[in-house]
Amino acid sequence: MSVTIKSAREIELMRAAGKILAKVHQNLGHEIKPGMSTWDINRLGDEMIRDYGCVPNFLDYQGYPASVCVSVNEEVVHGIPSKKRILEEGDIVSLDMGLIYKGYHSDAARTHGVGEISKEAADLIARTKQSFFEGIRFAKAGNHLYDISAAIGDYAESFGYGVVYDLVGHGIGTHLHEAPEIPNYRQPRRGIRLKSGMTLAIEPMINAGTADVLWLDDEWTVVSKDRSLSAHYENTVLITDKEPEILTLTEEEAEDGICNS
Ligand code: MF3
Ligand code: CO
Repeated sequence: MSVTIKSAREIELMRAAGKILAKVHQNLGHEIKPGMSTWDINRLGDEMIRDYGCVPNFLDYQGYPASVCVSVNEEVVHGIPSKKRILEEGDIVSLDMGLIYKGYHSDAARTHGVGEISKEAADLIARTKQSFFEGIRFAKAGNHLYDISAAIGDYAESFGYGVVYDLVGHGIGTHLHEAPEIPNYRQPRRGIRLKSGMTLAIEPMINAGTADVLWLDDEWTVVSKDRSLSAHYENTVLITDKEPEILTLTEEEAEDGICNS
C-alpha cells in the first residue's frame, strides 16, 4: 500500500480521533497507582474510549486480546493485561492504545512511573519522550522520512541506550497500520519525501540496556533481552508545510510548553 494523503475532511476526523485519545491518555495516566492490576488499567481505558462513543482499535487486532497494551519495566510493548500482574511502587508502565472515530484511527503511547521511581527510570522516560521531539523537528513537507528516524536514534544512542530496531512506527488513517514503516534509528537512505496531509504514528521504543528484544511465549509481549527497563512514547502526527501537528498531545503536555522547536 502506498502512503495516503488525507483530504481536509479526513484531517478533521483524524484531529478529532487524536483529541479524544489524548484525553483518554491524560485521564488514564492519573489513575495509575501501586496495587492496581494491569487488567484494571485495560478495563478503565476501554471504558473511557467507549464513553466517547469510540471503538478501541487494538482489541482483536490480529488476535490481540485487550484494548490497552500494558507493558511493565523490561516489557517493551504489547504486554497483555492481567488480573495477576499488580503494579508496585517503583515500576514503570507503558500504556499504548488507540481508537477509531468515524472510521479514522488514532494511536499513542505514554510511559508512566508508578509512585516514586529511580532517577535511572525517570531519565529513561524523559529521554524517550524527548527523542520523539528530536525526531519531529524534521517532520515537515519536503524533508525525508528517515531524517526523523536518524534524529530519534542519534539522540537516544547519545545516552548509551538501546534503540529497539525490531519494531517501527507507521502511517495511520482508515487503518491502524498504513505505509510507511518508520524506524527509530539512522538508515542508509533518506526514505520517502514527506508531504502535507500524511499522518504518521511515530513511536520510539528505547531500552536502558542493549537494543535486543525477544517475544515471550504468549506470542505478544516483547521484552528487552537483557531485561533492562524499556520506555515508549508515541503520537499520531500530521505533516504540514510548516510545523507538524501532534494530534494526540495531551492538554497537560501542551500546557507544559512542549513544543517542536
Ligand atoms: N501501537 C501499536 C503499534 O503500532 C499497536 C499494537 S498492535 C496490538 O504497533 F495488536 F497490540 F493492538
Ligand atoms: Co503504533
